[in-house]
Amino acid sequence: MNAIIFNEDTKVFHIRTEHTSYQMMIGKHDVLLHLYYGAAVGDSEVTWRIVTFDRGFAANPYDAGDDRTFSLDVLPQEYTGYGNADYRVNGLEAVHADGSDALYLKYESHRILPGKYKLEGLPAMYGTDEEAQTLEITLRDHVSGLRAHLLYGVFPKLDVITRAVRVENNGETPIKLKKAMSAQLDFPHRPLDIIHFYGRHAQERLTERIPLPHAIHSVESKRGASSHQHNPFVILCDHAADETHGDCYGVSFVYSGNFKCETEVDQVGQPRMAIGIHPYHFSWRLEPGKVFETPEVILSFSEEGLGGLSRRLHDAIRSNLIRSRYVDSPRPVLVNNWEATYFGFDEEKLYGIAKTAREIGLDLFVLDDGWFGKRDSDTTGLGDWVVNEDKIQGGLPALAERIRGLGMKFGLWVEPEMVSEDSDLYRTHPDWCLRIPGRPMNRGRFQLNLDVSRKEVRDHVMGQIFQVIDACGVEYIKWDCNRSVGNVYSAELPPERQGEIYHRYMLGVYDMMEQLVSRYPNLLFENCSGGGGRFDAGMLYYSPQIWCSDNTDAIDRLKIQYGTSFGYPISTMGAHVSVCPNHQTGRTVPFDTRAVVASAGTFGFELDLQKLSEEEKKQASAWIRTYRKIEPLVQKGDYYRLSPAAEGSRHVVWQFVSKDRSETLIAGVLLENISNPRVHLIFPKGLDEEAKYQDEGTGAVYTGAALMHAGIPLVAPMGDYQPIWHHMKKCECD
Ligand code: DGJ
Repeated sequence: MNAIIFNEDTKVFHIRTEHTSYQMMIGKHDVLLHLYYGAAVGDSEVTWRIVTFDRGFAANPYDAGDDRTFSLDVLPQEYTGYGNADYRVNGLEAVHADGSDALYLKYESHRILPGKYKLEGLPAMYGTDEEAQTLEITLRDHVSGLRAHLLYGVFPKLDVITRAVRVENNGETPIKLKKAMSAQLDFPHRPLDIIHFYGRHAQERLTERIPLPHAIHSVESKRGASSHQHNPFVILCDHAADETHGDCYGVSFVYSGNFKCETEVDQVGQPRMAIGIHPYHFSWRLEPGKVFETPEVILSFSEEGLGGLSRRLHDAIRSNLIRSRYVDSPRPVLVNNWEATYFGFDEEKLYGIAKTAREIGLDLFVLDDGWFGKRDSDTTGLGDWVVNEDKIQGGLPALAERIRGLGMKFGLWVEPEMVSEDSDLYRTHPDWCLRIPGRPMNRGRFQLNLDVSRKEVRDHVMGQIFQVIDACGVEYIKWDCNRSVGNVYSAELPPERQGEIYHRYMLGVYDMMEQLVSRYPNLLFENCSGGGGRFDAGMLYYSPQIWCSDNTDAIDRLKIQYGTSFGYPISTMGAHVSVCPNHQTGRTVPFDTRAVVASAGTFGFELDLQKLSEEEKKQASAWIRTYRKIEPLVQKGDYYRLSPAAEGSRHVVWQFVSKDRSETLIAGVLLENISNPRVHLIFPKGLDEEAKYQDEGTGAVYTGAALMHAGIPLVAPMGDYQPIWHHMKKCECD
């Protein structure tokens, strides 16, 4: 199927994926109008959706002459400028050499190309010529000569369209970009809800759903990171949409820095969404002939509700965004020493944990914070990526060798973007951190941000880290980032370019990560930012997994992992079994339940395994074997949220189904047991109606139809926080 069609007669662009249509039209006066995005409409061109009236206080551009029905203020458009009497949220703003800041963008040309466009130094989906096509539509501001090349990456099989904008200064004088959003989307005549994912440290990606108001609603971060507080992924959907029904649009920003997702319902009831780098503290000086590329946005649509949308996004991210070889192959089950020791360890303590880990059946020992510099607490040492031999006597290569001698892989924690004032790096190069001249600095966890927009800084830090990786044969890296970007000023940039620093910082981080993954293609790379402070599609381009939250309490994790699942594959969520009472909440939860929750993620352990009872060690070993069996479902299966992790939920249940529907796992937690309880039924989904499935635990046999229509009762032993686990496979049994 030709995914991108341009009709020369009607001037309509029709992007077609397997289940969706996206249409635009070069309208009067060469304004690029947005016609439609949603369920496939066959070969119809839905031009009739442009309905114009003479509306009061909706001005008309001069080229409309005496046509008072043509107003940019109400027309659905693809990407808008500024100062042209469209007063709604917009895409692009630029100040010209004469101080004026208007832009009137008009269609100039387009190209349809095989394969997927690429963005310089930025994460983005990738695709072969068989998988993807690119549409580039060039809009031009005729007064300044500025061009906005709108890029559309079309993945027909994935039902995904990506967008980005390449802004080019074709004028003769420099231009200062003030706002350069990656995509805008108009929804002519259609009320919608927004679902967004807010939170805080240790409580990331909680869900909120509200009808889009007539006011501007903004989901955003100005913290220099995508943030714990707001995630750069939102869903727009019908008011009635639920897990299985209704039109849902997913908007995932492939970027890990400041962002803004603005929505506005205009005066005649049409929602508009614009998403991109936050204009706060942003400007970009564009010399004549130069180009600025925005980060990418992934758009997807499903008419099969929120569940259908999530499954589309999960597939797309797994197949054409994550590059790691681990994306769909077994990952080592790890033990991380952070909650076991914090900063208080020596080489024998670490070796002891690794030894027990091996006996239990784990594959990878991860040495977390505290192994370098003079790092005995979080006040010192960041920036000195040389082993702390007071703590690890004999050196790190020797310890790594001993651990490898057990038959385990060796992994390491690093925090390359940061520096402690009490460090050799800071003493030698105090000017290498971000710092506003003449102002006292703010500290976050006692640390400062290195100015990683500077190549010499990046080269120094990564050079040190590469030496350690090489010397120790490190096979896993956890990259942490424990403060928001602050003191935003770079000693290297001239005053007129200080508005570029947030974005240049992010480009610097991406460059460092690219160096890491290209130098060590077999490394298992886990991202982290004080838990899930940078859980975004941008980071998934570099690492197949991200530590989901510093909150390891299995019950709190239900909500965090539930929220995360809307936009991100389950196999990307770092999840560990930790000790009870839990270090963040003091809560005690049965071992099996902790394992059930961690198995809806990357599965690992984060506790002092030496302190487990013999019984718990057996449970841990059994769970590693169980995880190995269900790991293909987690990595490649379809995911269904069967009951939500919402306020007041009595149970939270999810399900994986293999793509061939031969296997399923229904798992979850019964949160509360009461005496004389009502019986709740759970209704699995996505199964083969005709087939028979046998529950590996109970031996019971059900037809797919019976499971899906008659349901199965949720029953659990006495006590709160009881595990739910039904692993079923197709069988030929009677
Ligand atoms: C925050 C991370 O999320 C934790 O897992 C741990 O690595 C600490 N930082 C170490 O400082």
